[in-house]
Amino acid sequence: MAPDAATITSNAPPNAPQSLLDWVSSVAELTRPDQVYWCDGSEAERDRLQRQLVASGTFVPLNPQLRPNSFLARSDPADVARVEASTYICSATPEDAGPTNNWADPAHMRTTLAGLFAGSMRGRVMYVIPFSMGPVGSPLARLGIEITDSAYVVLNMRIMTRMGTPALDRIAAGDYWVPAVHSVGYPLVDETGTNRPDVPWPCNPTKYITHFPETREIWSYGSGYGGNALLGKKCYALRIASVIARDEGWLAEHMLILKITSPQGREFHLTAAFPSACGKTNLAMLRPTIPGWKVDTIGDDIAWMRPGPDGRLYAINPESGFFGVAPGTSEKTNPTALHALSHDVIFTNVALTDDGDIWWEGLTDESPAHLIDWRGHDWTPDSPGPAAHPNGRFTVHASQAESIADDWEDPRGVPIDVILFGGRRAHNVPLISESYDWEHGVFVGATVSSEQTAAAEGTVGALRRDPFAMLPFCGYNMADYWAHWLALGRTLGAGAPRIFQVNWFRKSADGRYLWPGFGDNARPIEWALRRVAGELDATDAISGRLPRPGDLDLDGLEFSTEDLDALFALDPDAWAAEANLTEDYFVQFGDKLPPELTGQLAALRDRIARARAAVQ
Ligand code: OXD
Ligand code: MN
Repeated sequence: MAPDAATITSNAPPNAPQSLLDWVSSVAELTRPDQVYWCDGSEAERDRLQRQLVASGTFVPLNPQLRPNSFLARSDPADVARVEASTYICSATPEDAGPTNNWADPAHMRTTLAGLFAGSMRGRVMYVIPFSMGPVGSPLARLGIEITDSAYVVLNMRIMTRMGTPALDRIAAGDYWVPAVHSVGYPLVDETGTNRPDVPWPCNPTKYITHFPETREIWSYGSGYGGNALLGKKCYALRIASVIARDEGWLAEHMLILKITSPQGREFHLTAAFPSACGKTNLAMLRPTIPGWKVDTIGDDIAWMRPGPDGRLYAINPESGFFGVAPGTSEKTNPTALHALSHDVIFTNVALTDDGDIWWEGLTDESPAHLIDWRGHDWTPDSPGPAAHPNGRFTVHASQAESIADDWEDPRGVPIDVILFGGRRAHNVPLISESYDWEHGVFVGATVSSEQTAAAEGTVGALRRDPFAMLPFCGYNMADYWAHWLALGRTLGAGAPRIFQVNWFRKSADGRYLWPGFGDNARPIEWALRRVAGELDATDAISGRLPRPGDLDLDGLEFSTEDLDALFALDPDAWAAEANLTEDYFVQFGDKLPPELTGQLAALRDRIARARAAVQ
C-alpha cells in the first residue's frame, strides 16, 4: 500500500515546506510506491545505495585495487541514449515551441502522463532528491526536486548536481524550485496485486520526456538513461532554464567553460558551443601544445550566464560532474579525463575486463583478448560489434579532474571574454574567424551546422543545422531565442564577449583532416585571446576576421603553405551557395525570424559579392 500523506510528512526532513510535502504526497498518490525516501546526499546514503545496487545486479563492482569505489551498470539494450523523438515541449501553443521542437498540447499530455504514471512505482521506493544547479546559494544557481524510482538515478544525481540537505535548506528558506518527476515505468506489482521480479535495468518501451515551460515542470517516463532520467541536466539546466533565462534576462547554454591563463599571467574565460560528437569534453580538458599557456576546466557541457554589475557576462557551470562519452577517451585524446576516472566513477555500457576493470574502443591501441561486452556477453576481437556501446558513459565528480579551475565553484561566476561556436565542417568554414560584432556572432551561432557523415542521417554532405548547439535543448521557439540573444547583446554593449567561429574538422581536397586538433586547438584560441587583448590586427573576409599571415602560432607544427591556405580558404561560390541554404533554412521561422538576422544574411552576401569582384 502506498504511504499516505501523514506517513510521508513524518518521514520528511523537519524543515520540508508544506508545498513540497503536498506535491510529494500527490505524486505518491498517483504513482503508488511502497516507500518514500528523502535523500540527504550523505556518504552513508551513497554507500547504502551502492550496496543495494550491487545486491540487485544493477551495479557490477569493479576491482577495488584497480578502480576503487567504482561500478559498471549495463542498461537495457533498448535504453542507451537520449530519445529526441520522444522529447516534448508542452507549451500553450505550438508557436511557443517553434518549428524545431516536438510540441504537444499540455492538457492532452497531462492526460497521457496521468495514465502512464498511475501506479508506475508500485513495489518500489520513491526517492525525493533536493538538488541545486550551481553552487548552493549562488545568485546564478537554481533549485529543483527530482522524484525518481531509480536508485541509479539518485547516485548519478549525487555526482552531477549538489544534491541533498543544503539544497533542501534553501527550498525550506523559500527559494524557488522546479518540480521534476521521473519513473522508469516498471512497477513490480500490478493493479491486481500480482508481483513480478525486478530486472537490473528497469525501463519501459513507451518513453516520454516532457517539459511544461509555463509551469516550469518536468515529467519523464520510461527511460533510466542519462539526459532522459538525470533531470537536472538537459531537461532543467537547458530546456526549462532557457525559458527561465528568457524571462529573467540571462542565458542557459549548451556550452563548456574554460579559464585560460597567458604566459604573462593574464586570465581569460571562454565558453564554447559544439554539436554532439565534436570533442567538447576533450576541449574542456585541453592541454595546450604552446608553451606558457595554461587551461583550466570550469565546465564541460552547460553554462548559465548573466550580466554582472560591471556590465560583463558572468558564467557558472550549473553541474558538478561530467557525464562523458567513454569510447574514444584515451591517454592520447584526453589524459585528464582518463586520470579523473581512477576512482569513484559510475560507468555505464562499457566493457568489463577479466581482472575487473573497464575497457572501451580507443582506450588502448590493441583490444584485450577477452572481455564482457556492454550487453554482458563474452567478447573477443573477432566478435561482430563493439565491446563498449558507442554512447557508453562515465559519471565522475568534476573535482576529480586535475585541470579543474580553482574558481570553478565561485558563486559569482567568471567573466566571459570569448564565445566560440563550432561545427564539424569538411568544407567552407575556416579554422577560426572572428565575428564583426555581436549581431554577426548571433548569425554565426544561429547557422552552425555539420555536414552529415552517415547515410543513416540523410544525404551525405548535406548540412545539418544545430543552432547554438541547442537544437534538441531549447525550451521555446528558436527564433525567439535568437531575439533574446540579440536583446542581451544590446544590454551588454561594450561589455559583451567577442564571438568566434572555429572548425577543427576541415579537410583537404584529398580527404585528409588539415588540422591536428586536440592540444593544438590552443593555437587558434590563443589568437582569439590576443585579439581580445588588442595585441593583433586581423584581415576582413567573407566569414569574419581572419588571422594575418604569421599571427597564428604554428611553432613546432609541420604545415605546407598549401595546407595552411586550404585551412583558411573562402570560395565565394561555395559561400554563395551556403547563403542560399541559410535563406531556405530561415523560412521555417516565418515572421518570428529577427530582422537583424535577415540583415546579417544580406551583409554576408555583400561580402561575398565584394570578394568575387576582387578576384575578377
Ligand atoms: C550530451 C549531449 O550528452 O549533448 O552532453 O548529448
Ligand atoms: Mn551536451
